[in-house]
Amino acid sequence: MILVTGGAGYIGSHTVVELLNEGKDVIVIDNFSNSKKQTLDSIKKITNKDFKFYEIDYLDREKLEKVFKENQIDSVINFAGFKAVGESVIKPLDYYINNISGALTLLDVMKKYNVKKFVFSSSATVYGEPEKIPITEDCKIGGTTNPYGTTKLYIEQILKDLYKSDNTWDIVILRYFNPVGSHESGLIGEEPNGIPNNLMPYIVRVASRQLKELSIFGNDYDTKDGTGVRDYIHVVDLAKGHIKALQKLEKDQGLFIYNLGTGNGYSVLDMVKTFEKVTGKKVPYKIAPRREGDIATCYSDPTKAKKELNWEATKTLEDMCKDAWNYIEKNGKK
Ligand code: UFG
Repeated sequence: MILVTGGAGYIGSHTVVELLNEGKDVIVIDNFSNSKKQTLDSIKKITNKDFKFYEIDYLDREKLEKVFKENQIDSVINFAGFKAVGESVIKPLDYYINNISGALTLLDVMKKYNVKKFVFSSSATVYGEPEKIPITEDCKIGGTTNPYGTTKLYIEQILKDLYKSDNTWDIVILRYFNPVGSHESGLIGEEPNGIPNNLMPYIVRVASRQLKELSIFGNDYDTKDGTGVRDYIHVVDLAKGHIKALQKLEKDQGLFIYNLGTGNGYSVLDMVKTFEKVTGKKVPYKIAPRREGDIATCYSDPTKAKKELNWEATKTLEDMCKDAWNYIEKNGKK
C-alpha cells in the first residue's frame, strides 16, 4: 500500500488519481488545512475507485502511528506541507514546524514500522540563483530567499543524512519547477486561499473578472521580452512523475534526485498571450516593479528523469492554460 500525505491538496490529489489509475492501493491522510473534503469524492468520481482516508495532521504522531499499525504500508509520498512563499516570510515558525517537524515525525514513524521507501516533493527553489541554465540536478543548491524554500532545502539535507546513516532507505527527491493546470475532467484543480501569489491562478482570476488586472512583476529582466521566464509544467505530467519515481524505488536502491520540468522556459507575457489565445478571454495587465526574491530565468534540464525514470512531460503550455481555465468554468467561478 502507498501512503499519500496531503493527498487532498493540489499536487497530491492529481497524484492519487494517477496511482489509482495504475491500480495501486492508496491510503490518503490530510488535515484539510489547505484543501477540501470534496476533493476526495472528486478523485473517486474521476477514477471510479476507492481508497482509505484518515483525517489527521501528520504532526500528530499517535494518530500517524495508528495508520501504520492498521495498514501494510510499503512506501510513502509526502505532499503534506505549507507552500506559500510570501506567507512563509510572515510566519516562518509555522512553516518550519509544519514542514520540517512534519517530515521528521513521518520519517521517524516510518523507521519504527520499517517502511523505508520515500518520495519527497522538493522544489526548484532549492537552486536559489541558479548556477547555470538549464538547471541540472548537480547544480549547487542553497541561497533560498524565503522560509518555504529553506524548508525544502533542509528536508533534502535531512534525507541525505538519513540515507548516509542507513542505506536500506530508498528515497527519491523530486524538484518540481512550476506546476500549473488541472485534471482535464475539471473535477480537481488548484484553489489557493485568498488572492493568489502564483502567476496562473492569478491570470485565471483576472480572466474570470474576480480580479481587475494582472501585475507583471518587472519587464526589465535580461530575458527575451524583459519578463520572468519559468518552466511551467502541467500538474498531470508532474503527477505521473511520482508513479515513475515509485517504480524506480521498486527496482533500484539508493537516494535519487530528479528535476521535474519540461525543459522549456516561457515568459510571463508568453503565458498571458497563450492563455488569451486558448481561452478567448482577455487578461488585462500592467507592468509593476520587480517582486523581491524573484529571479530572471529558471528552467530545467529534465534529461536525467527521462533517462533514469523513463518520464517526460508531454503537455504543452496550451494544454496548461486550457485545463486551468476549464477547472474554473466547470466550478462556476466564471
Ligand atoms: N508573476 C507576475 N505576476 C504575478 C505573479 C507572478 O508577474 O501576479 C511572475 C513572477 O514574477 C515570475 C513568474 O510570474 O516571473 C512566475 O511566478 P510564480 O509566483 O507563479 O512562481 P515562482 O517561479 O515565483 O515560484 C514557484 C513556486 C514556488 C517554487 C518556485 C520554484 O510558487 O513554490 O516556483 O522555482 F519554490
